[in-house]
Amino acid sequence: MIESLAKPVKALRAWIRGRRAGSRRRRIPTQLIQLGVIFAVVGVGMFLMRQKFVPDTFGDLGHYRAAAVAANAELEPRYAGWQECAMCHPDKVEAKNSSFHRTVSCESCHGPANDHASNPMQLKPELPAGREPCLACHSYLASRPTGFPQIIEERHNPVRACTGCHDAHDPTPPESIQECSACHNTIARSKAVSPHAPLDCEVCHEAPPEHKVQPRAHVPKKPFEREFCGTCHDRRARPPEEIRGVDLSVYEIPRIDLVTHGGTFVCWQCHYQHSPEAR
Ligand code: HEC
Ligand code: HEC
Ligand code: HEC
Ligand code: HEC
Ligand code: HEC
Ligand code: HEC
Ligand code: HEC
Ligand code: HEC
Repeated sequence: MIESLAKPVKALRAWIRGRRAGSRRRRIPTQLIQLGVIFAVVGVGMFLMRQKFVPDTFGDLGHYRAAAVAANAELEPRYAGWQECAMCHPDKVEAKNSSFHRTVSCESCHGPANDHASNPMQLKPELPAGREPCLACHSYLASRPTGFPQIIEERHNPVRACTGCHDAHDPTPPESIQECSACHNTIARSKAVSPHAPLDCEVCHEAPPEHKVQPRAHVPKKPFEREFCGTCHDRRARPPEEIRGVDLSVYEIPRIDLVTHGGTFVCWQCHYQHSPEAR
């Protein structure tokens, strides 16, 4: 041990002597020495911290703390899963799993209910009430998938609790989807939350009644020119006050100059036809 150190110590002595003698060639700049000291301190510090902070069982089974497996297994489960509920609430499970809400778990609405499942009479889960719990998923948000059923809170039967009209476990709307939305539901849902919500499909599409029976044989018309949108939006036009029973005079229809706005492109080159401001 001592012998193996002799060589480097000798070299260090020679180097210090060299420095004293002012030998330019072998001199190490002071900055480098200072940097070296800092690196050494940091390195030793990191080594010590690693010793102190890395948990004992880290790495035993893989790149994680092996004892975490047991620690997590000891936690009390808070959620039971809908399969648990089926034992005592078969009617609710049956209703939900064959409805629009089949992908929504019982406990998404009722909160964690494992305690309840093991002690049903003493511990009751939450009973969601009012509008807030439903709006968490159904209020309009641009980031939800296109065609997801959404509503604009202030416009959709305001104030009343959602469960006054919808059964939470089978929320099929009280009036079943019909007419155009029966087949064009994604378009209908986009339109329902757009500025064009008050406009009936047939304001823009003249649809022969046969289209609903033989859709491919009897195709409805589509607007094909800018002037069509201009009937309501041109600064020079007088928009209809009422269209298909909808009072348009309550809306502040935004106006543009049909001649200059958007060049000669058709409007739906830039505005989505069923959600003009991509709302
Ligand atoms: C072992 C049987 C059992 C299981 C399992 C069970 N429940 Fe219940 N649950 C009951 C009983 C019994 C009641 C009725 C208590 C009463 O009427 O006082 C009840 C009532 C409820 C209520 C109404 C509470 C109220 O305030 O009226 C909800 C909500 C509920 N359960 C949800 C669930 C959910 C969700 C699950 C699955 C995670 C579940 N239950 C699992 C037996 C069970
Ligand atoms: C979309 C939210 C939602 C989901 C999902 C849901 N519930 Fe409910 N549940 C409610 C609401 C809201 C009420 C209160 C009903 C009311 O006030 O009319 C309720 C009431 C209940 C009640 C007690 C009242 C009654 O109608 O007898 C039970 C029991 C219950 N739910 C069980 C379940 C079970 C079991 C599941 C899963 C199969 C489930 N719920 C899934 C929202 C939900
Ligand atoms: C955790 C999210 C979530 C919550 C909370 C929730 N829903 Fe839903 N809802 C969904 C999903 C997912 C669908 C199915 C969407 C689909 O079919 O594309 C749906 C579908 C619906 C539909 C059917 C729309 C249609 O296509 O005609 C109605 C109505 C509805 N929910 C009402 C409610 C009501 C009322 C509540 C509150 C009691 C509620 N939802 C709470 C996720 C939720
Ligand atoms: C006064 C009764 C009533 C109330 C209260 C009500 N709804 Fe509706 N809801 C309806 C009817 C009727 C429809 C189907 C026709 C329509 O789209 O307006 C519907 C449709 C829906 C749809 C489907 C929309 C689509 O585009 O497919 C959703 C989602 C919905 N409601 C959620 C809710 C939520 C969430 C609440 C509470 C914040 C609520 N509703 C309150 C009556 C009601
Ligand atoms: C029975 C289902 C069904 C109903 C109801 C229905 N459609 Fe259609 N619609 C279709 C199908 C399928 C197509 C595709 C036809 C094709 O591409 O050959 C279509 C195509 C269209 C087109 C596009 C035509 C084109 O040239 O691209 C429009 C516009 C349209 N439908 C509007 C409506 C309107 C408005 C209503 C309500 C009055 C309605 N549809 C009701 C099934 C339906
Ligand atoms: C403000 C006018 C307007 C309203 C309201 C409207 N549409 Fe359209 N629709 C258009 C225009 C514009 C086009 C695109 C024409 C083109 O691309 O050549 C279109 C295209 C379509 C197409 C062809 C496929 C596509 O997505 O481009 C279908 C299907 C359709 N509409 C169905 C409907 C249904 C169903 C409704 C009612 C829920 C509806 N439209 C309401 C203006 C409207
Ligand atoms: C029957 C009348 C009518 C027709 C036809 C019509 N719109 Fe609209 N438009 C409206 C109304 C009503 C509004 C909503 C005003 C409000 O929200 O107060 C609107 C709003 C808009 C907006 C503004 C959105 C915003 O956020 O301010 C745009 C863009 C638009 N429409 C584009 C079009 C295009 C493109 C067409 C042709 C495919 C068209 N409109 C056809 C009545 C019409
Ligand atoms: C070349 C793309 C383009 C075309 C084509 C186009 N627009 Fe626009 N439009 C825009 C842009 C960008 C805005 C928002 C900025 C602005 O106000 O100029 C807008 C805004 C609007 C607004 C809202 C104005 C306001 O004051 O809020 C309406 C309404 C509108 N457009 C209707 C139309 C109609 C109707 C047509 C067809 C005649 C059309 N647009 C064609 C790009 C276009």
